[in-house]
Amino acid sequence: RYRDDGAAEKMNPHGEQDAWEDHQIGKAKLSFGSKNKKQASDDYQFVFEDQIDFIKASVMDGDKFDNDLSPDALEELEAKTGLEKLQEDRKTLPIYPYREQLLQAVKDYQVLVIVGETGSGKTTQIPQYLHEAGYTKLGKVGCTQPRRVAAMSVAARVSQEMGVKLGHEVGYSIRFEDNTSEKTIIKYMTDGMLLREFLGEPDLASYSVIMVDEAHERTLSTDILFGLDISRFRPDLKLLISSATLDAEKFSDYFDSAPIFKIPGRRYPVEIHYTRAPEADYLDAAIVTVLQIHVTQSPGDILVFFTGQEEIETAEETLKHRTKGLGTKIAELIICPIYANLPTELQAKIFEPTPEGARKVVLATNIAETSLTIDGIKYVIDPGFCKMKSYNPRTGMESLLVTPVSKASAMQRAGRSGRTGPGMCFRLYTAYNYHHDLDDNTVPEIQRTNLASVVLSLKSLGIHDLLNFDFMDPPPSEALLKALELLFALNALNKHGELTKVGRRMAEFPLDPMQAKMIVASDKYKCSDEIISIAAMLSIGNSIFYRPKDKQVHADNARMNFHTGNVGDHMALLKVYNSWRETNFSTQWCYENYIQVRSMKRARDIRDQLEGLLERVEIELSSSPNELDAVKKSITSGFFPHSARLQKNGSYRTVKHPQTVHIHPSSGLAQVLPRWVVYHELVLTTKEYMRQVTELKPDWLVEIAPHYYQLKDVEDRMLSLSHVLMLSLSLSLSLSYLSFHSSKLNFL
Ligand code: CDP
Ligand code: MG
Repeated sequence: RYRDDGAAEKMNPHGEQDAWEDHQIGKAKLSFGSKNKKQASDDYQFVFEDQIDFIKASVMDGDKFDNDLSPDALEELEAKTGLEKLQEDRKTLPIYPYREQLLQAVKDYQVLVIVGETGSGKTTQIPQYLHEAGYTKLGKVGCTQPRRVAAMSVAARVSQEMGVKLGHEVGYSIRFEDNTSEKTIIKYMTDGMLLREFLGEPDLASYSVIMVDEAHERTLSTDILFGLDISRFRPDLKLLISSATLDAEKFSDYFDSAPIFKIPGRRYPVEIHYTRAPEADYLDAAIVTVLQIHVTQSPGDILVFFTGQEEIETAEETLKHRTKGLGTKIAELIICPIYANLPTELQAKIFEPTPEGARKVVLATNIAETSLTIDGIKYVIDPGFCKMKSYNPRTGMESLLVTPVSKASAMQRAGRSGRTGPGMCFRLYTAYNYHHDLDDNTVPEIQRTNLASVVLSLKSLGIHDLLNFDFMDPPPSEALLKALELLFALNALNKHGELTKVGRRMAEFPLDPMQAKMIVASDKYKCSDEIISIAAMLSIGNSIFYRPKDKQVHADNARMNFHTGNVGDHMALLKVYNSWRETNFSTQWCYENYIQVRSMKRARDIRDQLEGLLERVEIELSSSPNELDAVKKSITSGFFPHSARLQKNGSYRTVKHPQTVHIHPSSGLAQVLPRWVVYHELVLTTKEYMRQVTELKPDWLVEIAPHYYQLKDVEDRMLSLSHVLMLSLSLSLSLSYLSFHSSKLNFL
């Protein structure tokens, strides 16, 4: 039982107060030394002895709602077939009693704001209601989601409920993956995809209704869609804006006082527990808490919020290891991870009902905060962090930081536990931290991101006056200027801020402007074939190679094979792709080289699409297999803002807006340390690391981006031949000058 008696017992004697500050600057996990970690895991070998001390602080009141079914009713339900059962289930959702009223409101108003708690049935039901009411006869019902996984999983669920094959009547569309067909009438998509469709077809002619879901998340694309006011071109298009939080007035005000439709919540009380002292290692604390709940608390599943895939994988492994040690002493614990890159077939696992006698623990990213509802969760563990994009408009640098969540987020997380019965939430931070250190709300993405991509999109829509664009919350004007400056340097805009031909071509690619520019530039260097392969491989992220625990040496050797000649990471990616292509896309080859075949297939898919887009912007597919510099110059044409030069101590300084960075240990160049490099992205873990690095010649910077770099930026070419020549020339000049003077002196 969790102690409630006020006895303060600290979980870990190390760095109590510092810990929270470390968390705040985003390196919590890593700031904790390995020695302490080892110590901690030994200490918690026996979960029964060591417990984290929580204090019960407050009870969130909610309406009690009795929806227990009688045993007879249950039996009846079980007898039904799958589809019938699903239809029955639909009727138990909180939104169901309001179906008619909601449809009436949609009929009466063009724009409607819909508010309902997570799990009330907004995402899965509203599009179906609209379909049943005949809207799909007039056009598709489109529903946007901020996250890929949510779009896919919700589409899968709705196709099941409708008894149709996914991709037919119900489909989804996410970047580089269109699972829809001619037949599709309900389409789930990421908000970014709708924005792209809008670029191609501003009246969204094929839709009868657009539902912008999860509006409270305030993602960049959602905010831009709002600003574009997608309903204005089509008085007959219905626009629904749905949100899980109650601050809907803001949306309503923004849309000329659009009516708000509230779906009454069904919420049980949630007991909130805080730790008595800050936790130095929230990952470990979370695991201990899972085990404590598992062995001491009544049945009910557990949901834990982590910041990303790596943390989730570590937690999964640790949990497996510790429960194995306990053997049959404890009930079965089913561990279900969920994050964006989790393969689709594994995603479904989190929704499977928990077998009798077992307990499920879902290890999730922020995605489970509002986007996905998992039934049966009774306990929530909230370490209080999430990964958040942050952008520094001064340096133009963007990074993902582990950041404390906002109070609004913490409340949403806690609420996940009280959906089907009274719940409990364990916050791995103190009540003091909650009240004094957390922000009330999360800052909208538009205020903490690089805007280059959005500005390019808006420009290609003919929107020029960005400073007066109708933003719900305007971005800092500094960030807008920075975006304009970058697009100008990339040659996407001319000096009047108008889209150039290059910019028009770039806008066709659903990629970051720097990547798009790399592709457009490859036309000039006659290597578009190589560059789209590289772009496709970069889009996969870092899930190409795998490294099984028992074969790490083999895996590393296989990987280093692609780096022979220190060609750089981009060329290594190209080599992987081309070698695979040469084997006719062999799966066996992937196994032999420790490469994830699934990722490669996705890369091939993306590459095919990029090839199609090349055709559209009239760039010929050209190849220069032996011209390494041509490929590197194309990369530099897009990524020149990401250049860095080596320092004496082995670190690097970025050339513009100097900042210290390092080559990521996974790079093929990590031991080589070329003098000048261009990198794909920065990742912040213990240090700022450059990931995907290629060597470059400093002259290229001035040649390729003359209005971004001046000679003085790339001056210290100490070892370059021309510099040596110049140096010796000036040396001899000054020597002769000296000797001239001295001779004069002598003469005098
Ligand atoms: O959008 P909102 O949060 O209001 O609810 P929803 O996502 O439509 O979820 C309604 C119900 O569908 C919940 O009980 C979910 O557990 C269930 N659901 C599911 O079983 N599988 C999915 N992939 C999505 C939802
Ligand atoms: Mg939803």
